[in-house]
Amino acid sequence: MADAADLLSRIRVNGAVPRHVAIIMDGNGRWARERMLPRPAGHRSGMKSVRAVVEGALEAGVEVLSLFAFSQENWQRPPGEVDALMSLLEEYIQKEADELEEQGVQVRMLGELDRLTPPAFSAVDRVMKQTAHNSTLRLNLFISYGARAELTRAARLLAEDVAAGRLTPAQVDDAAFEAKLFTAGCPDPDLLIRTSGEQRISNFLLWQVAYTELVISDVLWPDFSRRELYEAIAEYQNRDRRFGRVRP
Ligand code: IPE
Ligand code: IPE
Ligand code: MG
Repeated sequence: MADAADLLSRIRVNGAVPRHVAIIMDGNGRWARERMLPRPAGHRSGMKSVRAVVEGALEAGVEVLSLFAFSQENWQRPPGEVDALMSLLEEYIQKEADELEEQGVQVRMLGELDRLTPPAFSAVDRVMKQTAHNSTLRLNLFISYGARAELTRAARLLAEDVAAGRLTPAQVDDAAFEAKLFTAGCPDPDLLIRTSGEQRISNFLLWQVAYTELVISDVLWPDFSRRELYEAIAEYQNRDRRFGRVRP
């Protein structure tokens, strides 16, 4: 089995590294259950996979890494699990902020952030400000995020612009819509990876994944590392992206 370094050389030779990789980080609960541990132990273990994919993305030359960390629907989980996830978010920022800053990573948190606990919100605010000037890798962390809510929010903002006379209905096109999304200005994902074998989108980036290549990995998120990231990129490089057209 090829190791991470072999795979990295292979994907460099292949060329065309995806500019934007998005990941639905799933399977923490099952990882914990397999070990007879409480679910938060799986979430904690998943933090080292976050570090691994950030480093992997930096090495491979990916420009944008989008990680789905907590969905709007995840607020409906038991309060103990939600509390553990909020504390882990704070802990992740505390532990990693300085290193991310040194590595040139720009951290952005996207979602309904006003629902976060005040300490989690202030940690998020701090790391975004601390790393705002960086440009080597843009790390989008989706927290309290749901794609349908993002789309209805965009529609509402456009409706407000029209009502106020800033925009005419005829000016509402793809570009105007895109400009109202949390991801405004960010290229669409080239590759979307979902871990733990689940074959669904679960309300992530519905607008942005129109032509994204999907790779499902059977590996549970806490076991996902640089090697699995590079395997997914290698698989992406074998795809034939046609965007609805035919090859000349
Ligand atoms: C992903 O792991 C993390 C979050 C959704 C917050 P899960 O907690 O969904 O793990 P499974 O799917 O139950 O194994
Ligand atoms: C999707 O995983 C959300 C995140 C990874 C943050 P879920 O575990 O919440 O999704 P479902 O319930 O399996 O669709
Ligand atoms: Mg899950």
